[in-house]
Amino acid sequence: MATLNLNALGKTYPGGVTAASDVSAEISDGEFVVLVGPSGCGKSTILRMIAGLETITTGQLDIDGSRVNDREPGERDIAMVFQNYALYPHMSVRKNMEYGLKNEGLPKAQIAERISEAARTLRLEGYLDRKPRQLSGGQRQRVAMGRAIVRQPKVFLFDEPLSNLDAKLRTELRAELKALHHRLGATFIYVTHDQVEAMSLADRIIIMNAGRVEQIGTPMDLYLRPATRFVAEFIGSPSMNMLEGRIGADRASLSFDSAPPLSLRGDLPGVEGQRIALGVRPEHLDLAGDSAGRIDLSVRFVEQLGADTVVHGAVSGAEVPLAVRLAGVQRHETGTVLPLSYAPGNLHLFDADSGRRLEVEAG
Ligand SMILES: Nc1ncnc2c1ncn2[C@@H]1O[C@H](COP(=O)(O)OP(=O)(O)O)[C@@H](O)[C@H]1O
Ligand SMILES: [Mg+2]
Repeated sequence: MATLNLNALGKTYPGGVTAASDVSAEISDGEFVVLVGPSGCGKSTILRMIAGLETITTGQLDIDGSRVNDREPGERDIAMVFQNYALYPHMSVRKNMEYGLKNEGLPKAQIAERISEAARTLRLEGYLDRKPRQLSGGQRQRVAMGRAIVRQPKVFLFDEPLSNLDAKLRTELRAELKALHHRLGATFIYVTHDQVEAMSLADRIIIMNAGRVEQIGTPMDLYLRPATRFVAEFIGSPSMNMLEGRIGADRASLSFDSAPPLSLRGDLPGVEGQRIALGVRPEHLDLAGDSAGRIDLSVRFVEQLGADTVVHGAVSGAEVPLAVRLAGVQRHETGTVLPLSYAPGNLHLFDADSGRRLEVEAG
């Protein structure tokens, strides 16, 4: 059992850098939560406060209903896995995994049993007598995970554990981590700057920006209903297209510098002339099939990815960048103009100043 309650956590380092402010989240027992955001947004700081490796400046951290702000790392029943593995280079894989357990004074037979079970789970059975330098990066990271598993903690913390590995291995280990979580049923809190990793691993994502929480939700909550422009542009690749315009006099249409006016089904929750940003994902644009598209894309360059084709360019007659993801192999020449269409249900509106989502049905 391990639920965590982050109650307005804040961290200011000596020297005055505020790395996290007012971070609140409730994490359920057995949940796989991913903390994601750009480099420097405070993810590691949050994780280290949970682990007890950094003091908490403001707010309260509860584990299973008890305040743990002042509890030592060793008393929190938490194990942490780091990006750089942090293995002892002079010790064998077995010794690396045993180390913490011996310190806890666990009986020998029980230690051996835990090690062989972890080695089986992580496919390290043939490597127990090797030193870390005799292992690949992926195997080293498995040893680091093994060292966490054998302790049987109630919470696992991971700080970018896959970031040093190549793309193929990352994908493989992602699947293994997901299976491991399923098998152990423990609470996982996982930090990454990679939105694809976050989307593929998380039950719920906490997305951060400049030390603050932008949104908490399932991957599909974030993809389908981003609460802010920041979330909209962070989740998804290529990023969501953004067109900036103004609310029309009827408060039911938008005028753009770069595209035909857009009429809306509902009333806009703003005032005439208010600047807004209209978002549409590259995968939600399509070729109009005739010249009656809603927006024209002037093609600059094309990425042929095989399974799909990403066409980059600008809104015709304007300098606003626009990308469209088309299915399969498609050829389009630089300089041509493609009329594009979109389904109104796939549009997102944000206040251009605050970045907050505006709830309105575009038509
Ligand atoms: N020990 C430290 N002392 C002072 N500032 C720090 C320390 N650790 C991190 N920071 C600063 O806090 C901010 C958040 O850092 P961090 O939590 O490591 O971000 P992330 O893990 O999201 O990349 C950054 O501005 C970073 O420079
Ligand atoms: Mg970090």
